[in-house]
Amino acid sequence: MYLPSDDSIFLCNTVNHYHGQQALEIGTSSGIILKELSKNFRIVIGTDIDFDSLKHSQTVLKSNGLICCDAASAIHNIVFDLIVTNPPYLPDNPNHVDRTLDGGPTGIEVSIHILSSVLDKLSEKGKILMVVSSLSEKKKLEDFIFENNLVIKQIAQKKLFYESLEIIEISR
Ligand SMILES: C[S@@+](CC[C@H](N)C(=O)[O-])C[C@H]1O[C@@H](n2cnc3c(N)ncnc32)[C@H](O)[C@@H]1O
Repeated sequence: MYLPSDDSIFLCNTVNHYHGQQALEIGTSSGIILKELSKNFRIVIGTDIDFDSLKHSQTVLKSNGLICCDAASAIHNIVFDLIVTNPPYLPDNPNHVDRTLDGGPTGIEVSIHILSSVLDKLSEKGKILMVVSSLSEKKKLEDFIFENNLVIKQIAQKKLFYESLEIIEISR
């Protein structure tokens, strides 16, 4: 399980400015973000590929929906006002596979995969919040966003000593 870290707290402090009816988190792990979302949203659903993490967060998150699946692949017939993700965003480490950290060869491929999976789950005025690291190749993500006629806005930035994190908001 991914234990809450600087990036988790960073996203937590941002999602609490949003409210609405339905919210979705991709990559829930400990449930720290989902718990924050449940304060301002009526229905909150989280997905993760790691079943053991979800089993753990179930004890913390009682009434929220948790689904073990790839990105939003098991979610149908519902749209969300807010979709958030703190994806694995580091370039793959060839010596050690860790799906909580490995974001693909340039660190951004899993983020793009998650984004493409949630696009048809976004309500008309819905927003997507995503954590992006300076260690990944953000240009590829920006290209994907522009190709899909979406709008990108930087909402927050945080400098750590080894990287800089930002939260981007994506909308139609
Ligand atoms: C950096 S951790 C973030 C955990 C938590 N949301 C937080 O902020 O502390 C990324 C999480 O995404 C999950 N994950 C990775 N690839 C995924 C995928 N394709 N679909 C769903 N979850 C995924 C990992 O198992 C991990 O729990």
